[in-house]
Amino acid sequence: WSAHRSAPHAPLGVIGGSGLYALLDEVTEVSVDTPYGPPSDSLFLGEVAGRRVAFLPRHGRGHQLPPHRINYRANLWALRSVGVRQVLGPCAVGGLRPEYGPGTLLVPDQFVDRTSGRPQTYYDGLPLPTGQVPQVVHVSMADPYCPVGRRAALEAARAADWGPVDGGTLVVIEGPRFSTRAESRWFTANGWSVVGMTGHPEAVLARELGLCYTSLALVTDLDAGVESGQGVTHTEVLEVFARNVERLRTVLFKALESLPVTRDCLCARALDGLTTGLEDVPGH
Ligand code: ADE
Repeated sequence: WSAHRSAPHAPLGVIGGSGLYALLDEVTEVSVDTPYGPPSDSLFLGEVAGRRVAFLPRHGRGHQLPPHRINYRANLWALRSVGVRQVLGPCAVGGLRPEYGPGTLLVPDQFVDRTSGRPQTYYDGLPLPTGQVPQVVHVSMADPYCPVGRRAALEAARAADWGPVDGGTLVVIEGPRFSTRAESRWFTANGWSVVGMTGHPEAVLARELGLCYTSLALVTDLDAGVESGQGVTHTEVLEVFARNVERLRTVLFKALESLPVTRDCLCARALDGLTTGLEDVPGH
């Protein structure tokens, strides 16, 4: 890390999902604490094509955190505190249509929240340990993902000959159990495309901090309502993710390389004109 820098800094961030516990070869490990507690792990800062990138393993480097115990608020806060403004969030998902089999890469444009009880906002009016009190803020979530980040991800996947699915709805369940066949068939009947466990509240919290967020959903299995066998297993999810992790890394690198240096999307202006109460919190 350049010796002249007083503090670690990276404008681009990646939150790695099941099976992606390291992204970059030469990294500086930075331990960050936040007013919401510790993130899933240290941040690992390095470079891709001359751009500084902070990587965070979503489940911890040893996959010790199940989806419902991840401190999503701390994760996004930690990334923002080292300067991250654009986040790519790869995740493992189940396919809800026969044509979305294992190995499919889908870049969703919508999500549906079926989680319960996860802290999903920074703006809950409760004083922080730092003394500041977050105000009442309602951000728009009509289009939850960054259009620029989505385009970068799709183009990067096409360049890697991985015909991605452009758009679709990611339904996020509480987990850690997988869905019943009835739940899964219901998701499909609603027109939803893939099912995962971590997409919410990650995208929401990114928006609440004015960050760009792009989800890259890697299908590791057909969900229980689509396939007729035993149902999904975690081993299957990890195996399929591992088989695809190299090309996923290629796509992430290419997408990171092509993200614009100056943001010109609505995500960057999500908090314009609002008083959040977080402006003076250290790390913000
Ligand atoms: N992650 C990977 N596969 C999944 C599935 N079928 N349901 C929920 N989350 C998943």
